[in-house]
Amino acid sequence: MATTGHDIDKAKAYLGQGQLVAIPTETVYGLAGNALDEAAVLSIFQVKNRPSFDPLIVHIASTDTLPILVKEVPALALRLAEAYWPGPLTLLLPKQSLIPDLVTSGLDTVAIRIPNHPLTLRLLQALDFPLAAPSANPFGYISPTQARHVAEQLGEKIPYILDGGECEIGIESTIVGFPDGKPLVYRLGGLSIEAIEEVIGPVNYLPHSTSSPRAPGMLQSHYAPRKPFYLQEKLELQPGASEAITGYLLFDKYLEGVPREYQRVLSPTGDLVQAAQKLFAFLRELDTLPVAEIRAEMVPETGLGRAINDRLRRAAAR
Ligand code: TXA
Ligand code: MG
Repeated sequence: MATTGHDIDKAKAYLGQGQLVAIPTETVYGLAGNALDEAAVLSIFQVKNRPSFDPLIVHIASTDTLPILVKEVPALALRLAEAYWPGPLTLLLPKQSLIPDLVTSGLDTVAIRIPNHPLTLRLLQALDFPLAAPSANPFGYISPTQARHVAEQLGEKIPYILDGGECEIGIESTIVGFPDGKPLVYRLGGLSIEAIEEVIGPVNYLPHSTSSPRAPGMLQSHYAPRKPFYLQEKLELQPGASEAITGYLLFDKYLEGVPREYQRVLSPTGDLVQAAQKLFAFLRELDTLPVAEIRAEMVPETGLGRAINDRLRRAAAR
């Protein structure tokens, strides 16, 4: 059973022995292991029940480590890194052979980011290897944004959870790659398209797909609660429409005529940053309420709203 605490030395000791530790980041909690140790990486896939074709993100403390991990950094990637690292940005870069193929699922690019969380940055600085870390949830389930979420689901399988409080951004990093030298967003996330375009100009982004060979992890059904989950443009109460007891995930207003305990409002002021921060915790709460199904509405398709809607669509895709 995992212990939870703030002890960086303990986390460092476990990681140095090839064991896994859950780490806080500003986006979501990660399930971390030594990225250069194949056995540790293999156990990440096993603990998460993750298929081996879904590659991992490698976390580093500083760009000084880049030359041993990647062959080159395109100019546009460098500009993004300078603007937004540490932060919710992951870059796909051509990998060096030091990184085990298991980490990248055999791809010739590796996903890299510098997370922006003081505890994890200190841990990474104390280690002499980078950390491979997917989100610390069983494969396909909602990502954890609190240490408690990790303990509930993976607590039996790992020795230690580094508790860094509630994640500030609450939604996974934005993944940017450079196929044919042009920037392409592979996964919408905690860094908005607008913020990226401010630095490097217009970018395209991939809509999610079930089987894109370029982004094997962009599986459509993902981030999903266990309860039946339905998504619509806007929620309005239709009396008698459903016999089932329903839990509601709303953007900025409660529904009249439904007990409030069955409702979660992402941001009463309509703030998309706050909505992103609450999204996964509220989905988990709704999933554990005594309701038979969950209904959610979309948020405005701008800023972090795009990433929120992406997660909601994937949760509804089954
Ligand atoms: O915010 C985050 O990114 C969190 C924290 C812990 O850093 N991590 C995270 O990891 O969300 P994970 O494993 O849940 O999602 C990583 C995504 C997957 O969809 C995977 O397919 C994609 O990154 N990915 C990793 N390497 C890739 C590569 N070389 N090419 C394309 N996609 C890649
Ligand atoms: Mg994940």
